[in-house]
Amino acid sequence: MGGMSTDELVSIALELAGMRRLPPDSEVYVPGERIERLLVALDVGTAELLLARSLGCDGVLAHHPAGGRAVLRFPEVLTRHVELMVEQGVEPTAAKAALQPLLARTVLRAQAANYDQVPAVARILRLPFLNLHLPLDEIGRRIIVETIERYRARLERECTVQDVIEALQTLPEFAEAETRIMVPVGAIDRPARRIAVVHGAGTNGGAAVAQAYFDHGIDTVIYLHLAPEEAERLRASQTGTVIVLGHVAGDRIGINRYLAEVERHGVEVVRIGI
Ligand SMILES: [Fe+2]
Ligand SMILES: [Fe+2]
Repeated sequence: MGGMSTDELVSIALELAGMRRLPPDSEVYVPGERIERLLVALDVGTAELLLARSLGCDGVLAHHPAGGRAVLRFPEVLTRHVELMVEQGVEPTAAKAALQPLLARTVLRAQAANYDQVPAVARILRLPFLNLHLPLDEIGRRIIVETIERYRARLERECTVQDVIEALQTLPEFAEAETRIMVPVGAIDRPARRIAVVHGAGTNGGAAVAQAYFDHGIDTVIYLHLAPEEAERLRASQTGTVIVLGHVAGDRIGINRYLAEVERHGVEVVRIGI
């Protein structure tokens, strides 16, 4: 009696995210039942697994892929970018072309992964262990979209980039974050008529994906983070605005919503760094 299984932890995430099955970047490495005390961290390595043991946790949840198929098949979830772009009116061929270089780089990079090290340690420790990436980011994406839409609906003038930032500051994860929401491309006083919240697609789409949005009438792209050289490329093109939310703060949106549900099921959550 009591506690949750790894399957139940997965089901709650899928339900909240409106997904039918676990996407390729999320995996149960060591299945388990009746987990009562769950260690949760953005990144889990062998140190966090041992820490879980010494803190008396009987299960571990990572957000980012921690090994196994979730690491090797991670590139597959990048195609979510194409769906998000097409939903916003980007032509499918242009959307696929914008993603292609990032996809190719990520596929090649996956060959370098020491993919079984961390799951192997969890197996030796017989410690139930899973990661939930895309589902929790999708939960977060929906909250971010709704927050902006609700705020914008109450404005009696045209929405600006600054208004979008103020809308996001109503979320405690951003209000209390150590990082500040940034505008590395464009400016805060520009209008934000068409906004793309680009989260829950593996990672940010870099300059090419943002440019595809700009080329198809979206003036404001929201990423959790963006490499400085990619921001530089977009600044040179002078076509739109990119808002960067901060990786940890942005990931916390979906994670917090999910963990609140897990706690409602009577599981004690031990957070590391989130
Ligand atoms: Fe995330
Ligand atoms: Fe992340």
